[in-house]
This record gives sequence, C-alpha cells and structure tokens, in this order.
Amino acid sequence: MDSLVIKGPASLKGEVTISGSKNTVLPLLFAGLVFDEPFSFSNVPRLWDVETTLQLLKSMGTESQWNKEEGTLTLVPKITMPVAEYEWVKKMRAGILALGPLIAKTGEAKVSLPGGCAIGARPVNFHLDALKKMGAEIAVENGYIHAKAPKGLKAAVIDFPEVTVTGTENLMIAALFAKGTTHLKNAAQEPEVTHLAEFLKSCGAKIDGIGSGHLVIEGGAIQAPRSKVAVPPDRIETGTWIAIAVTTRSPLRLKSVNPGELTEVLDIYRKMGVGFETTSNEIQVIPSEVYKPVELETAPYPGFPTDMQAQLLVSCCFAQGTSRIREKIFENRFMHVAELRRMGAQIEIEGNCAVVKGGTSLQGAPIMATDLRASACLVVAALAAQGTTTISRIYHLDRGYQKLDQKLKRLGADITRLSGV
Ligand code: EPU
Repeated sequence: MDSLVIKGPASLKGEVTISGSKNTVLPLLFAGLVFDEPFSFSNVPRLWDVETTLQLLKSMGTESQWNKEEGTLTLVPKITMPVAEYEWVKKMRAGILALGPLIAKTGEAKVSLPGGCAIGARPVNFHLDALKKMGAEIAVENGYIHAKAPKGLKAAVIDFPEVTVTGTENLMIAALFAKGTTHLKNAAQEPEVTHLAEFLKSCGAKIDGIGSGHLVIEGGAIQAPRSKVAVPPDRIETGTWIAIAVTTRSPLRLKSVNPGELTEVLDIYRKMGVGFETTSNEIQVIPSEVYKPVELETAPYPGFPTDMQAQLLVSCCFAQGTSRIREKIFENRFMHVAELRRMGAQIEIEGNCAVVKGGTSLQGAPIMATDLRASACLVVAALAAQGTTTISRIYHLDRGYQKLDQKLKRLGADITRLSGV
C-alpha cells in the first residue's frame, strides 16, 4: 500500500486538466456488455476502479484493449459467464452495475452482493424490487444475487422510494430489453445518469425525459456505437480542485470541465466569498483572503453532491465562523472528521450534521484514508496545513483520481509517494 507525504502549506500556480469521469465511465463500460460488436472510448481515466471493471468484464468474457498512444480503450463485448464474482465486487461496489446488463442480455445474472463500506450500509433493495416488478425472479443466497428472467423482462412503472444513481442506471438498461414502455419515476438526475442515457440514445435507444426525474424507456433494438465515445470530464474531480484552490488560496485554472454540472458547488463556494470566471469548458478560481461560513445539506442532483461534502468541510475549516454541513445521503460519511481533528480541525458531529468551527490553522500529522472522497479531503487538508502530513492507505485515492499527486507536483506542491508503505 502506498502513502503520500505532503509538506504544507502549498502555494500552487498554473492550470490543471480534469480527467474523464469515473462515475460516468463505469456504467458505460458495464453497458458495453449488451452489445455484439467492438467499440471504443476516448478520454478514459486511468483509475483502479476502471481496471477492476475491466478485469470483472474479462471474467465474464468481455475483452478490452488500451491504446496508450491514442488514449483510447476498445471493448470486445461477449458474455460467456453471466457472473460478477465477489472477488471483484468487494473491491468496487459499482460491480452491482453488472446486474442490469447481464439479466437484460442473457436472461440471467449472478452478482455478488456488494455489502457495506466505510460510508454506510449501501443496500441494493431498490434495484432488486424494481427488477422483480419487471418480471425477474430474484433469490439472494450465499452472498450472491441470483436473477432470472427466462421469458424476458416486461415493462413496468417503477417509482423508486429514494433516488438511486446506480439503481436508475441498472434499470434503464434492463428496460431497453423489456417488452413495452417502462417508466422510471423518482429517477436519479445526476449528470452521470444523463450521460448513460445519451450514450444509449446514440445507440438507437428510445428514452424520453433525459435529465428529469421521470424517464420513459421503450424496449427495442440497440447497436454498438460506430464512432468513439468520449468520456466527459469528472465533475467531482473538478470540485476537488476547486477545494484545493480555495483552501490553499491558489488561483488555479481548471481546464476540460463542464461548469454547468457544478452549479450548486460553485454557488456554495461563491457564498463563502470565492470568485469564479467560467467559460463553457474552463473555470478560473479566484480565492479570497477571508472566507464566510456556510450552511447546507447534501442532496441528490441538482443539490450539493455528497461526493463533495468531505472536501467542502476542509474549506470550511478556513472560514471565519461556524459552518454546518448536513449529510443526507449516506449515514456514515464522516470518517474523515476524526483524521481532520488529529490535524487540529475543530469539528463536532451532531447526528448527521458536521459543525465546523473555522479560523483555526491545521497542522501536519500522520493520518489514514478511509474511503475515496475522504482521501481527497485529507489531501486538501494536508496541502493547506503547516508542516508534514503522511497519508496512509492512499489506494482509495487511486481508485478515483487519475495521478492526483503528479498533477499537484506539476503545480508546485511538495508531495512524495512512498510505495508499499
Ligand atoms: N439506497 C438504498 N437502497 C438501494 C439503493 C440505494 O437504500 O437499493 C440508498 C443508499 O444507501 C443511499 C442512497 O440510497 O443512502 C443513495 O444511494 P445511491 O444508490 O444513489 O448510491 P450509488 O448508486 O451506490 C453512486 C455513486 C457514489 C455516489 C452516490 C450518490 C457510482 C458508481 N457511485 O452510488 O459515488 O456517492 O451515487 O451520489 O456512481 C464515489 O464516487 O465516491 C461514490 C461513492
């Protein structure tokens, strides 16, 4: 396992190019299972979660090939074994995204239950209940979901009890292979869901209501894309760089971004006193000397993303006054708080609310990453802290951020990766 050693406080300068979106490319890769012809992606981020997905797809019969010079990835879809083994799903909960494509394409699926993780229990009951409504027979035995639809899936009206991102993605694919017109109500409106829907539409799918909470999907044939599918930029990586720029007070320019997907994040930082100059694909962050505290709660899109809560929380440590951040999506997503406290942060947890007393400086300390976004927030904190911070268990970061340490180094950060420590 690698560690990162960061000497702060950092003063960064320059521009950084945001990589392709993790939570977009993963469903796109799993969706690839339903096609019969090879096709290619560009701007695929080199992440552990992508590698894990490719290994999982390979275990099911689908080969992939990177072309490093072109930066493209080609999938050769084939399902020889409709099984997503625990070996892969335990590493990456997104393995549940195999369920929809497998049952849609082959009429059966055996997918390991993902289990809980550092941020919460994360059940998949909404996925299973919705598939049952579409006629699938589902049994959960020995840690695996066994799903069957020997006569095919049938269209249904599905009203998700709560917004679920991967649930919406799984059911969208299942609905394409069902007879009739399926309605997904209270569907997730996250940009990643929209990107999947647009991709499927470009393959011939009939989907209405894209970008809304009510998707209408007509079952029918689809074909593998003829031209390369470009993975859009990662909105959470973009937000993480905003947190880095704000917290280290560095006027960074973020390139290859989509500001339209970050409206709420930009608004909250504006309330703190941060300035932004945006074009259609760039954001110039204009940090301020003094920041104001904020109050907010995380919410499904277009609300403030839970995946940015940890990074914002660090920024709030540098505000003049007390901020309140309520976590409404995951019940246990404050594991980073104990580590931040070890760096001198004054944060109390009251139920699902973090109360952050700003205006105290952070000091370097040995700390440990607990999940992906927690790791990112610890990097933000270490960059802004006085002295040396060593972050262990950094593999979480490599799951979702492409070469973050190298990007930071290029902008002037004193950051070293220790391998196997
Ligand atoms: N939920 C249920 N039952 C279900 C499904 C969800 O109770 O069947 C609950 C969850 O426990 C949670 C809430 O509903 O409280 C929302 O969960 P959701 O299903 O939307 O989460 P997800 O699809 O498992 C995706 C992202 C997460 C991101 C969340 C919320 C991917 C691969 N993962 O997870 O990303 O936090 O949506 O936006 O798209 C990350 O990238 O670090 C990450 C955790």
